[in-house]
Amino acid sequence: MRREKGNAFFIHTFGCQMNLADSGIITALLQQEGYVVADSDATAGIILLNTCAVRENAVDRVGHLLQHLHGQKKRNKHLIIGVVGCIPQHQREELFARYPAIDFLAGPDTYRTLPELIAQAQRGGKGATLAFNTAETYDGIEPVRQSAISAFVPVMRGCNNMCAYCVVPFTRGRERSQPFDSVVREVQNLAASGYREITLLGQNVNSYYDDRAVCDFAALLDAVSREAPQARIRFTTSHPKDISESLVRTIASRPNICNHIHLPVQSGSSRMLGMMNRGHTIEEYREKIALIRSLIPDVTLSTDIIAGFCGELEDDHKASLKLLSDVRFDAAYMFYYSTREGTLAAKTLEDDVPEAVKKRRLQEIIDLQNSISAELFCEAIGSVVEVLAESESRRSSAQLMGRTAGNRAVVFDRERYQPGDLLDVLVTGATSATLIGRLMHSGTHLSVNMR
Ligand code: 5AD
Ligand code: SF4
Repeated sequence: MRREKGNAFFIHTFGCQMNLADSGIITALLQQEGYVVADSDATAGIILLNTCAVRENAVDRVGHLLQHLHGQKKRNKHLIIGVVGCIPQHQREELFARYPAIDFLAGPDTYRTLPELIAQAQRGGKGATLAFNTAETYDGIEPVRQSAISAFVPVMRGCNNMCAYCVVPFTRGRERSQPFDSVVREVQNLAASGYREITLLGQNVNSYYDDRAVCDFAALLDAVSREAPQARIRFTTSHPKDISESLVRTIASRPNICNHIHLPVQSGSSRMLGMMNRGHTIEEYREKIALIRSLIPDVTLSTDIIAGFCGELEDDHKASLKLLSDVRFDAAYMFYYSTREGTLAAKTLEDDVPEAVKKRRLQEIIDLQNSISAELFCEAIGSVVEVLAESESRRSSAQLMGRTAGNRAVVFDRERYQPGDLLDVLVTGATSATLIGRLMHSGTHLSVNMR
C-alpha cells in the first residue's frame, strides 16, 4: 500500500452522469493499484480532471480550473495533474501546449492505462493515451460509488448517431454494450447491498444490444427491474427515433420502473431537426409523446433543447416555443448552440445566428419552460407523492431532499427519517424546480409502489 500524499488522488468530475460513473471506475482502477482517495485537491498528490467537451462553457470551466492548478503546481512541483475524459479525446496533445501544468491525458477508453501514466509522470515524463477501443466496456471493474442509496450502471458506451452539433461520437467513439450477464450481476449486488435507486446509463440506451443473450434494452430493463424489486429503476438517455413501443410497454408494466422519460427534442422545427441530422420530424416526435402518454398516463417527461443552431430562423424558434407549450415538459435542459470542432455542423454549416440572438432565444425558452414547470408543480399541491429521500436539504439539516418517481425534487421536514427512506409526502407548496411537502406519517414503505 502506498499511503504517502504523493499517492493520494482527487478527481474533479465535469459533465454528464456517464462521467460521474466513469470517475467511480477510475477510482476503482487506481485503488486496485494502491492509490488512495484524498479528501480534497489540497491534500492530493495527483489531481485528475474528468472532463466534458459537449459545450463551450463546459470546456471553459476546465480551462479556469487548470489555470488555478498551475499556481498550485508552482508551489508544489511534485503535484501531478491528469486531464481525462472527453476534452483530451477531442483536443488531444495540443492541450499540453496550452496548459503546461498537465502531466498526462487519457480518453474515455483508456482508463486502464492511468496507473502507468501516473508512474511515468512521477518519473518526470508526460504521456497521453487517446486510442479508441470499442471492446472496452470496463467489464469486471466494480466502480467505487459515492452514494449508498443511488447507483449509476453504464450499460452501453459511445454513440453511432451523427447529430450535426454533437461532439460525443468523436469523444466517446462507437457504441458498445455491456454484456447482459454483467449488468444483471451488478444489479443483483446493488440490490443485495440495499440500493434504493438504480439508473441505467448510456449515450443512447435504446441502442443497447447483447448479441449473445439476444437482449435489447426493453428486455434488459425488464430483467433489471425484476432483479431489484425494492429499488426504483431509471434510465437515460433515450433517442426519440429509437424509443420503441415495447420499451414504453415495459415501463408501463413494471411497477418499480419510474414513470419518467427524458427524451431530448433539440428543436421544435422539422427543418432544424433535418439540419441537425436527428433522423425524425417534429410530427414523429409528437406521435412518440402521444404513444407514451397513452400507455403511461401519469408519466413525466423532460427534454433537452438547443437555441440558435445554424440557420435557425425566428419561425423555427417559435416552433420550439410552441412545442414546449404543447407538450408541457416537467423540466428541460436548455442550451444555446456552440460550435464544436470536428462535428458535421462545424464542417458543413455556418454558425450564423448572432450570439445576442441565441441568448435572447434561449432566455425566451427558459422563461416559458420555467412558467410551465411552475404551473405543473402548483397543480401537484394537495396531492400525496411517494418520495425517496436522497440527502439533507441544502438549506437545513432538519430537512430532507428527495424525489418523486417522476423525478420532481421535494423538500420536507425530516422528523426521524434518513436518506434512503421511502416516504409519503403531502405537497403543500411549489416553486418551478422544487415541491415543498409535509410527511404523511404512514412511515416508510416496504414495497416500492410508484407515486
Ligand atoms: N451546443 C449546445 N448544446 C449542445 N448539446 C450537445 N451539443 C451541443 C452544442 N454543440 C446539448 C444537447 C444534448 C445535451 C447533452 O447537450 O441538447 O442533448
Ligand atoms: Fe460531456 Fe458528452 Fe462527454 Fe458526457 S459524453 S462528458 S455530455 S461530451
